[in-house]
Amino acid sequence: MIKPDAMANGHSGGILDQIIKAGFHIRALKLTKLSAEKAGEFYAVHNQRPFYGELVEFMSSGPIIAAILEKSNAVEDFRKLIGATNPAQAEEGTIRKRFAESIGRNAIHGSDSDENAKIEGDFFFSGLERF
Ligand code: CMP
Repeated sequence: MIKPDAMANGHSGGILDQIIKAGFHIRALKLTKLSAEKAGEFYAVHNQRPFYGELVEFMSSGPIIAAILEKSNAVEDFRKLIGATNPAQAEEGTIRKRFAESIGRNAIHGSDSDENAKIEGDFFFSGLERF
């Protein structure tokens, strides 16, 4: 998911370009905007964290791009491509290093397991919207 900060800063094209050039195949893609309720549902695993309210508010503050990506070893390779959660700690050349503003406004989200990739893909896309 490309987050509202990266969308507002005009980075969606640059981020998608870097993802495609890294060998990921786009299987589904959508421009949408989360309500606070849907953002809260997406990040429910974090609902006891002190930053949860801020996270939900930010993630529902503007449009996002959701995608399902395919590649061998996709989850691990994508997490390497996007870099550390905090862009200040992300490696040079990673998406968060290049495009993120801060730990909260960190440009992009990637699933942390195959199981969560399935859950998160199903959250955004019906069977008719994936190829
Ligand atoms: P993401 O990979 O989307 O998963 C959970 C998000 O919570 C994370 O990226 C960050 O954007 C956000 N997050 C994690 N830690 C903090 C924090 N300390 N303050 C604000 N947001 C945070």
